[in-house]
Amino acid sequence: MEIEAVNENFQIGSIGSLLSGKQKKRGILIHLLQQIQEEYGYIPEEIVKKLSSKLSLSMSEIFSVASFYKMFRFTPRGKKLVKVCLGTACYVRGSKKVLNTLENEFQLKNGETSSDLSITLETVGCVGCCGLAPVTTVNDEVVGDITSTGKIEGLIKFIRKK
Ligand code: FES
Repeated sequence: MEIEAVNENFQIGSIGSLLSGKQKKRGILIHLLQQIQEEYGYIPEEIVKKLSSKLSLSMSEIFSVASFYKMFRFTPRGKKLVKVCLGTACYVRGSKKVLNTLENEFQLKNGETSSDLSITLETVGCVGCCGLAPVTTVNDEVVGDITSTGKIEGLIKFIRKK
């Protein structure tokens, strides 16, 4: 009952006045960072410099906000984004071997991008296809049941052709 009474009297418009200028800027900043990442695939430092002067926020404030969210990246990604699932179902079915083989094959460590920007190798918690474990995604395509050396080789061919 009390909560309803509070809700009845609460004016949505008053939220704006409760937010400080800094909070408003943060909200705008996050929206802009999402757009920038959509455009470039990551957050380039040059753009952060421009944002810094437009929003009157220091670059360190911008990086601090952006790095709080895992979705923002500060380095370019490769054309092919390869994500090896290390979630429990995939891990117990051998995804670590898949990762090690891909690292050796493409000379990349987890989280790295090739110098020609052709491939980024990452790991992921679970992609929701546990029944196909172990799973790797190549851009948005799921490759599952990578349970043998032959299947890992097939995955490598698939990545190269992509
Ligand atoms: S644990 Fe890998 S898809 Fe769920």
